[in-house]
Amino acid sequence: VDIAVKSTGGKKISEMPYGLMHEDINNAGDGGLYAELIRNRAFSGSDVYPSNLDGWSAVNGASLSLKNLSNPLSSAIPTSINVAVSQNSTSVGNIGFANDGFWGMNVVRQEYKGSFYVKGEYDGDFVASLKSALTNDTFGSVKVKANCKTNEWTQHKFTLVPNKNAPNSNNTFTLTFSPKGLPSGSASLDFNLISLFPPTYKGRENGLRKDIAETLATLQPKFLRFPGGNALEGPNITHPWQWNETIGDLKDRPGRPGVWNYQTSDGFGLVEYLNWATDMELVLVLGIHSGLAMDGHWVNETDLQPWIDSALDEIEFIRGDVSTPWGKRRAELGYPEPWELKFVEIGNEDWLAGKEPGFDSYKEYRFPRFREAIASKYPDIQLIASPSIFDKMTIPAPVAGDYHPYRQPNNFYNEFHKFDNLTADNLTLVGEFSSVHPNGGIDWNGTLHPYPWWIGGVGEAIFMISTERNGDRILGSTYAPILRNMNRWQWSICMLEFDASKVTLSTSYYIFKLISTHPITHNLPTTPSTNTSSLFWVAGKNGNQDGLVFKAANYNTTDHQPTPVKLSFEELDKGAKAELTLLTTSEGPYGYNDPAIGNNVVVTTRKVLTADSEGAFNFEIPELSVAVLDTGRD
Ligand code: AHR
Repeated sequence: VDIAVKSTGGKKISEMPYGLMHEDINNAGDGGLYAELIRNRAFSGSDVYPSNLDGWSAVNGASLSLKNLSNPLSSAIPTSINVAVSQNSTSVGNIGFANDGFWGMNVVRQEYKGSFYVKGEYDGDFVASLKSALTNDTFGSVKVKANCKTNEWTQHKFTLVPNKNAPNSNNTFTLTFSPKGLPSGSASLDFNLISLFPPTYKGRENGLRKDIAETLATLQPKFLRFPGGNALEGPNITHPWQWNETIGDLKDRPGRPGVWNYQTSDGFGLVEYLNWATDMELVLVLGIHSGLAMDGHWVNETDLQPWIDSALDEIEFIRGDVSTPWGKRRAELGYPEPWELKFVEIGNEDWLAGKEPGFDSYKEYRFPRFREAIASKYPDIQLIASPSIFDKMTIPAPVAGDYHPYRQPNNFYNEFHKFDNLTADNLTLVGEFSSVHPNGGIDWNGTLHPYPWWIGGVGEAIFMISTERNGDRILGSTYAPILRNMNRWQWSICMLEFDASKVTLSTSYYIFKLISTHPITHNLPTTPSTNTSSLFWVAGKNGNQDGLVFKAANYNTTDHQPTPVKLSFEELDKGAKAELTLLTTSEGPYGYNDPAIGNNVVVTTRKVLTADSEGAFNFEIPELSVAVLDTGRD
C-alpha cells in the first residue's frame, strides 16, 4: 500500500484521547488498586452482605466473635471483633487474630504502616507480625505499647519493617496480646479498623498500590472516568455509590454493598479518586448517580430532587471554593484548593434499564432534570449523557453521549467507519470498550473470553484508530474494566490481572499502550483516505513533540503475508528518520498472556527507518499486527 500523508488539513483532536475507567469490580478497588492489605478490616456489613469474619482466624486458640457493642467505634462502623481467651488457648503466650489479606500479602523489606482500635483495659504490649501462612515463619514483628482505656476506643499506630522478604505471597498479618495484661475478671478485648499499608504510589496516606498504579501510569492516560460503571448505580436504590459516605476519617465510612457480589469498604473514596487524578495528571470525568439502580428500579420524578441536590453537592465538594458549604468541608479534610471538574456524566448505561413499555424514565425526566440543574449552575461543565446516539437516544448538543462497545474483534473491523458521520453536535465519549467475545461466538449468550487475546487486541487497535480519525468528535476512550484480581473476579477481560504480589500485562495492555503513548494532537488527511480490506490507519502530528505519527493495524486473517507499506509525509524529505514499533505475536490469534505461567505472547520489534530518495519510509506490517511509526522519537 502506498500511503501519502498531507501536511495540512485534518482536525485538532481531543487533548484526552485515552484514559482510565475505574470501578470496584474484580476487587479492583479493595484488594486491588487500594493498597490496604487487611481484608474485612472493619467487619462492615449490610442487609445485602451481612457482617462476617471473612479473612480472620484465631491465633493460639483465641475465641473470635462479632459484637455490636452499645458504644461502637462509630455509628458508621457498628460491628467489632471480640478476641477472648478460651479453653483452647495455651496458658503461656499471646492470643490474638490473623488476617490472610486479599488472598495473601506481599511481604518484603519495606516500611508497613499499621493501625488498629482497641477497647478494654489492657496493660502490656500488642505484637503485630507478618508471617508465612504455610510455615508460620515470622518475617517481621513489632511491639506496640498499649494505651488502653476502659470503655473507650483508642487508636494504636505502628510501623513494621520485615527483616527478610517472604518467598511467596501466602502470608498473614497477626495481632496478639498477652492475657496476663488483662485485669482480673476480664478475658477479652474488642478491636476494630485494623489496617496495614505498604508504601503507596507517590507516598499518599490511604493511597494506591504502587505496582498497579505505576503500571497504569505507563499508559500515559489523560482522564479518569469514575466511580463506574455499574458500581455507581449500586445493587438497589437504597445502596447507591453515595459520595458523601466515602469521605473523611475511615472510621466514618460505613462501606456498602457493591454490585459485583461483595461488600466494599469505601476506603477508596471520592478524595482518593481525586488524589489519584492529581498524581497522574488526569482530567476528571465524574459519574453522578442518575436515580437508576442495578436491579432496574429507578427514582420517581416526585422523589428526584434530593438526588439532584446530592449531585450538585458532590460537584461543589470537588470544585467549589472554600466559601461554599461543601468547599469548606473539603478544606476541613485538608484540601483547600478545589479540583478542576469539567466533565460530568449523568448516570451509567441508562439505555439498559429504567423503562417500561412506552416510558423511559431517563429520557422523560431523569436526564432533563439533572441536565438542567447542573447546566444552569455550572455552564462550563461538559455534560455527558450515559447513552450515546448509538443507543437510540437523541442527545441535545452540547451534551455528549457515552458509547460502550463490548465486541467481537470482527465487529470492530466492520464498524471502522461508525464514527465518520458524527457531527460537531454528536460529541461522544467512549467510556468503556474492549473485545470480549471471540469471533463467530454466541456473544452475551455465552461467557466472556477467559483472557484478553491477541486478535481481540488487534480489533481494539482498529477501534482506537477509528476514534483518532474522528478525534475532533470523540472526547476520549477508555478500556474497561482495567483490573482483575485473579483470586476473586466477575469479569474476565481486563487489561491487567494481578494477585497479592504481581501484575500481569495482557495482550491488550501492550496494544493500548503502544497506541496511547504515541499521541496525535492533529490528524492529517492521507491518500488513499481510508483503509484497504485489511489495513487500517490514522496519521497526524504530535504538536507536543513536533513529530509525525502513523498508526496502523493489519487485520489480515486470510493469508500469512505481510503488507508492504510505502509511507510518505508531504513535509518530510529524503533522509528523514522515524522509529517503527511493531507488535506481533508468537502464538497466533488466540494467544494470551497467562498470569499462572507468566508467559508473554507479544513480540515487540523497534527499528529506526530512514526515508528513501522520494522521502518515503518502506516497511512491512505482518498479518495481525499493530504498527506505530513516529518521527518524534528516533
Ligand atoms: O466494565 C464492566 C461493566 O460493563 C460496567 O460496570 C458496565 O458499565 C458495563 O456494562
